[in-house]
Amino acid sequence: MSTRWGFFRSALALSPLLVGFPLLSNWKHYDLPKPIADVIDNVTNVPQVSEYAILEHARYLSEDVGYRTVGTREHALGDAWMVQQAYALQTLCEEAVSAEPGRKLECEVWHQVGSGSHRFDILGKRLYKTYVNLTNIVVRISDGTPAGKKHAALANSHLDSTLPSPGAADDAIAVGALIEAARTLIATRGWEPHHALILLFNNAEESLQDGSHLFATAHPIRNTVRAVINLEAAGTSGPSLLFQATSSAMVAAYAQVPRPFGTIVAHDVFSSGIIMSDTDFRQFELYLGVPGLDIAIVGHGYFYHTRKDRVQYIEAGVAQHMGETAYALLKFLASKESPLLELSGGHEKPQTVFFSFLGAFFIKYSFATAISLHAVLFAASIALISSTPTSVSASVAVLEKKGAENIRRKVPEVSAPSNIGISIFKGILLLSTACLAAVLSANMVALFMVHVLDRPLSWYKAELSCLLLYGPPAFTGALASLNFLGPLFFPTSTNNISNTERTLLQSVLLSYIVIASVVQLAGIGSAVLLTMTAGALLTGLLFDRARGGNRVSLGTYALGQTTPLFFGTELFSTLTDIFVPLSGRMGAEAPAENLVASLTVFSAAYSAPLLLPFFARFGSVILKRALLILTLVTAATITIFSQRDPFDVMHPKRVFVVYNENITTNAVSLGVGTSDIAPGFNTFVQDIAVFLANTSRVGNTGATLKVNTTPMRVEMHEYNGDWDVLYPFSAFLSPYEIALEPYVSAYALGGDPEKTFTVRAINDVVDAAAATRSLTLIIDHPGLIWTTIAFDAHVLSWSLDDDPPTKHARHFVKEASFYGEDKWSIDLVISLHDLPSSSPSSPENMKDPEELVRPHALRVNFVGVQEAAMWPGKAADKAKGGRAMALLEELDAWLEERSQGAVDAMLLGCVGGVIDV
Ligand SMILES: *[C@@H]1O[C@H](CO)[C@@H](O)[C@H](O)[C@H]1NC(C)=O
Ligand SMILES: *[C@@H]1O[C@H](CO)[C@@H](O)[C@H](O)[C@H]1NC(C)=O
Ligand SMILES: *[C@@H]1O[C@H](CO)[C@@H](O)[C@H](O)[C@H]1NC(C)=O
Ligand SMILES: *[C@@H]1O[C@H](CO)[C@@H](O)[C@H](O)[C@H]1NC(C)=O
Ligand SMILES: [Zn+2]
Repeated sequence: MSTRWGFFRSALALSPLLVGFPLLSNWKHYDLPKPIADVIDNVTNVPQVSEYAILEHARYLSEDVGYRTVGTREHALGDAWMVQQAYALQTLCEEAVSAEPGRKLECEVWHQVGSGSHRFDILGKRLYKTYVNLTNIVVRISDGTPAGKKHAALANSHLDSTLPSPGAADDAIAVGALIEAARTLIATRGWEPHHALILLFNNAEESLQDGSHLFATAHPIRNTVRAVINLEAAGTSGPSLLFQATSSAMVAAYAQVPRPFGTIVAHDVFSSGIIMSDTDFRQFELYLGVPGLDIAIVGHGYFYHTRKDRVQYIEAGVAQHMGETAYALLKFLASKESPLLELSGGHEKPQTVFFSFLGAFFIKYSFATAISLHAVLFAASIALISSTPTSVSASVAVLEKKGAENIRRKVPEVSAPSNIGISIFKGILLLSTACLAAVLSANMVALFMVHVLDRPLSWYKAELSCLLLYGPPAFTGALASLNFLGPLFFPTSTNNISNTERTLLQSVLLSYIVIASVVQLAGIGSAVLLTMTAGALLTGLLFDRARGGNRVSLGTYALGQTTPLFFGTELFSTLTDIFVPLSGRMGAEAPAENLVASLTVFSAAYSAPLLLPFFARFGSVILKRALLILTLVTAATITIFSQRDPFDVMHPKRVFVVYNENITTNAVSLGVGTSDIAPGFNTFVQDIAVFLANTSRVGNTGATLKVNTTPMRVEMHEYNGDWDVLYPFSAFLSPYEIALEPYVSAYALGGDPEKTFTVRAINDVVDAAAATRSLTLIIDHPGLIWTTIAFDAHVLSWSLDDDPPTKHARHFVKEASFYGEDKWSIDLVISLHDLPSSSPSSPENMKDPEELVRPHALRVNFVGVQEAAMWPGKAADKAKGGRAMALLEELDAWLEERSQGAVDAMLLGCVGGVIDV
């Protein structure tokens, strides 16, 4: 190209790529299969997975049954429904066999009931879970022979839903998908499983994985499990994402699904723990030691664990995608080609790089291949760079010596390696500075939004919009570095513009390939992102080299930007799908704004690796103009974004309300917390207090309510007994407390003994010589669920596990049990050394300190949720919830009106106290 195109013409020429690739990538990212209604194809008569059937199951569970919180009546109804479904599958099996005599197919059903306890560390806290008579429904599909049952693939979903949610996506849709996948397989004529499939419909995941613990530690067929597939949901739209894969053979199995959607990057992000969440997968890994695949719906995470997790909000095609994925995996794992027998080695850190592409391709290769690939890319890059002529003045000089040396005319001069080395080093320094400047400028804007304007989370309603706010400052920072350092590093006296441009291109290439190699050598498969870019850049530069000439061709940019644009868009969509909704539940103190700003810069930098060379191409006038424009754009977007409210009906704010009756002090209070950094929460709580003060009657109970109208900010620590129901998540809520008029709770001692919430000790023996006290702590909690106790002691041994902390510590034990189970216990042997030998100072306002306090007493905080007082889960039966429920109902109606539906509140009626035993 002899005529040199200017900036605008060049940018225009590249724009189809710059716009088209991200659009294509984004479209494919969210693309879903067409929902199918019929359970049998009406033309071919072949059974098929039907979204309609899956959603019917999800609708039944989430609407006809409702909020299936562990321990509630609805939870028991969900259990009963699933038992019926399991037997229906068994009947289907039997009918299929009688229709096709000789077909090797058997379905067995278990209704597992069991009690247990397990340690469950979460959010950096050591926690124990106990459970009484929780249930699982298990269906095994096999060929009916012992050999066929010897090795099985486990597929898991959970029936229960979390405290404030009907759980249509989380996880009823997965329950439906497994039922539907099983139905399709059984109904397929001639299909016989070579290896068994175990479908686990576990009925306690949200209470911290008790159901999967029960299966993995106590079910008679648990030891036949070789691999697990876990289906989950943290959102309501888009394809189901493969986000954990713990064996290469299982990654290979995933290649069988019709529409693969998953990448090692998601795996690495999830396993880093930054998402602060966990699935049943953990129990199978811990107690069965098997590898597997963890798959979840992640799009539109705003309704995750809210009351809006309803079928009506689930995007069309989501269920179809999950159902077809489950079906394909189960079919493959049950087949003769199944990798189940190779999987005896347990789970492993991934050794396979994998990613899906355009929703149709699934690419995977081993880490060893990745390392070789990097070696090849590196060698090729070095060869290319060292053979590329850098000095235009040199070739011009050659041309000028007309006729003298005709050979040298054709061979442009190659400058000395050390010169190239120094230039590239400067190039890399410039690029690193630009990246740093981009991160800093975006984060400065983030701090400005939070601390100066007080407008954090302005991008919350639209996942991708953070690019508009943080892209411009990031680019400003990067280009400013080029503007200031460029002339310093590459003075025009010794270099011309084309040289600088080419050197920068080579620096980008080398940086990517070196970082990719280092990351891959560290065992992190996400290096593939960098490999992709390096590959594209190398292609672009090879093209440039082959083409020859002084100017770098625009074609080099077109080629070099292909994979970065493609995978960058994918990366950005995945990260924002996860982290933008997450910023609404990360806690009121979390650096959510900076996190989102940083990941935006990260994705933008990844998507535009050739930004600096491109600007270097046009010289400083264009660069300065671009800087001016970007600065203006930054100011404009800050202004526009600062006008935006973070929340609306489709992206509600999460609020946590705990109405607490203290049966030790008779104090009644309303705790109100939030889990995001949006401003104005203080005013919000003040308004609640005013509203309550103005509400002279509570519902139709006739009770009057007086309010101490100044809500107190509660400092969270391990002794806020009234927040223990939500421990350790309570640490994220920065709650306020509004004191209400005291009264004697229906659960208090001295009332109906059938209804009294107590903690007591039996088998109580003090061994003075050994300085120990052994006891069985009994917790009676009629009508209360999710009870938690907390106490300080040096525990020497207990019935929870073999390994209590070896020193005096605060212990938290949480319970979740089946509907109607109202008693649990733990055995303890504690050291007397740090228990009070006489009366410890009793909490203020205690009813009767004399009675409560005794020598060697163990002070136990206890709290639970009233099964009948959870709004809106128990709205259909609200009369049973008494005062608490009446107040929560009124409060919810008021919140709904005040926020115009932009608040999703979890409202719990709790009861608790403290006692010395
Ligand atoms: C078969 O099913 C499709 C899709 O549900 C429908 O459009 C079509 O009319 C059906 N054909 C017959 C012959 O029933
Ligand atoms: C569990 O249920 C069974 C049967 O209903 C009952 O006998 C038992 O006492 C319950 N509790 C525990 C702790 O197993
Ligand atoms: C208090 O209640 C009265 C009557 O229902 C209403 O008119 C008034 O606006 C309320 N005030 C506040 C601050 O909510
Ligand atoms: C009840 O009040 C006592 C005394 O103030 C306190 O220590 C305890 O944490 C409270 N418990 C609950 C559940 O409110
Ligand atoms: Zn779930």
